[in-house]
Amino acid sequence: MADGDPVIELSDVHKIYPDAQRERAVLRGINATFRRGEFVAILGRSGSGKSTLLNLLGGIDLPSGGDIRFNGLSISKLDERRRTLFRREHVGFVFQFFNLIPTLTVFENLLFTLDLNGVDRARAQRRVEELLSQLGLSDRGDSFPDRLSGGEQQRIAVARAVAHRPSLVLADEPTGNLDQDTEQDVLALLRAMPKRDHTTVIAATHSPEVASCADRIVHLQDGTLNDANS
Ligand SMILES: Nc1ncnc2c1ncn2[C@@H]1O[C@H](COP(=O)(O)OP(=O)(O)O)[C@@H](O)[C@H]1O
Ligand SMILES: [Mg+2]
Repeated sequence: MADGDPVIELSDVHKIYPDAQRERAVLRGINATFRRGEFVAILGRSGSGKSTLLNLLGGIDLPSGGDIRFNGLSISKLDERRRTLFRREHVGFVFQFFNLIPTLTVFENLLFTLDLNGVDRARAQRRVEELLSQLGLSDRGDSFPDRLSGGEQQRIAVARAVAHRPSLVLADEPTGNLDQDTEQDVLALLRAMPKRDHTTVIAATHSPEVASCADRIVHLQDGTLNDANS
């Protein structure tokens, strides 16, 4: 595969949540292609359906209608077990509140993801050392997450998301809980990844700073997705 090849393709994707009174149609016919090696920002106000869309892209949830293909494979037609395997192998998630495991050290947090993927211990340890060194956090491996600043925790969370070399990284408000200085560190990391590792990075955000770093901005509004420049 080459940079620019389609990785994720959505056709006429709908998501309807059942509600007490009536159904809520959050996504109403999304058509989009996300490509290898690009960093895309999904901009939209709170409640517009950004997290809903990311959950569909990562196979956490299923669309109510339409199709989502990952490298040509229809993930919306996989059963739960296969979707779990798909997610584990191909997707990395970054969340607003870092979600590091508080009882594990930084080193163990990173090792854990690789364990889940069945990477053998010696290789996993080398990978964790490599990631920490890339982040300039080699001396923090033995720390517990709560000893780190928010920016450091989020950089570790990004490292955890990419440790197993997924082709798709989904970031939900990745800088939503950071101040402006540390936001830049995390953004630099997210931005470098698509070029260095040929990953597709999709970040949901309402931050103009995040959007300004992206190769491409799409707007989620009224249940549909539109390119910023169309
Ligand atoms: N599991 C759910 N069940 C019912 N409604 C939901 C669920 N998840 C999200 N919603 C609703 O869908 C809409 C979009 O939510 P969300 O995707 O979280 O938006 P965003 O991430 O852009 O803030 C909101 O109105 C929210 O209340
Ligand atoms: Mg959200």
